[in-house]
Amino acid sequence: MKTVLLLGSNSDVGQACAATFAKNGADIILASRTAADFQSRLAADIAIRYDVKTETVSFDALAYDSHQSFYDDLPTKPDVVISVFGILGDQDLATKDFAEAQKIIDTNFTGQVSILNIVANDMEAKGAGTIICVSSVAGERGRKSNYFYGAAKAALTAFLSGLRARLAMSNVQAITVIPGFINTKMIQGLETPKLLTATSQQVANGIWKAYRKKKNTVYVLPIWRWIMLIIKSIPEFIFKKMNL
Ligand SMILES: NC(=O)c1ccc[n+]([C@@H]2O[C@H](COP(=O)([O-])OP(=O)(O)OC[C@H]3O[C@@H](n4cnc5c(N)ncnc54)[C@H](OP(=O)(O)O)[C@@H]3O)[C@@H](O)[C@H]2O)c1
Repeated sequence: MKTVLLLGSNSDVGQACAATFAKNGADIILASRTAADFQSRLAADIAIRYDVKTETVSFDALAYDSHQSFYDDLPTKPDVVISVFGILGDQDLATKDFAEAQKIIDTNFTGQVSILNIVANDMEAKGAGTIICVSSVAGERGRKSNYFYGAAKAALTAFLSGLRARLAMSNVQAITVIPGFINTKMIQGLETPKLLTATSQQVANGIWKAYRKKKNTVYVLPIWRWIMLIIKSIPEFIFKKMNL
């Protein structure tokens, strides 16, 4: 592995991934839609701390028309792409205002499809590469508290599964990361059980391990695999009455 492209590098998980992969010798391209100053400082810090090359580039997941030129103009084509962008959105607002529903779906799903398709085509042509994308346990069963976000993540998980199968013969890995709660700004203010909540660094470590071991799907905290197995097996007539 030489160069890692981080899509959504301003995310807490993205920053932890950047440091973890740099620590293991990768050059890092940080791609984010905002916080240019912060990204430049982060890039400088990583470059000095781990003695690797870093770059910052501007990337907006919703600017689909810019994705091909964004990828074509990268200073170096990545060997590994880690995609961590996403929004939780406002579930209540989304029930009343389609614009919010669309933003949740487009950011968490359509934007991922748009950019990862371009990455996949390039890696397939080269016959090498790894795509790592963060989905969510929310995509495993629609819950009334966040089913717009959950639906987008379900679609993303299905997309990644198909992509993985398509690329398998081309020596390209596609890894799906399925975290439960992560202690980041995305769920700031939400009380979550400590045992079920990962830190960004735990997610980054899980991603590094999954990359090294060429895993297909990882849950980060293994307990979530069992929790979701139980949640998925609850009959509809009970699930409908549950406050999840
Ligand atoms: N936190 C959790 O409990 C949890 C659980 C399961 C899965 N996840 C997933 O984990 C991933 C990382 O999230 P996180 O927890 O690290 O939260 P985060 O810190 O809020 O990171 C999300 C990032 O997505 C970026 N983003 C949003 N819209 C974008 C757009 N249109 N173009 C480019 N970037 C955009 C945000 O950019 P700005 O910084 O510019 O706003 C932000 O940096 C996400 O895919 C999330 O869905 C999180």
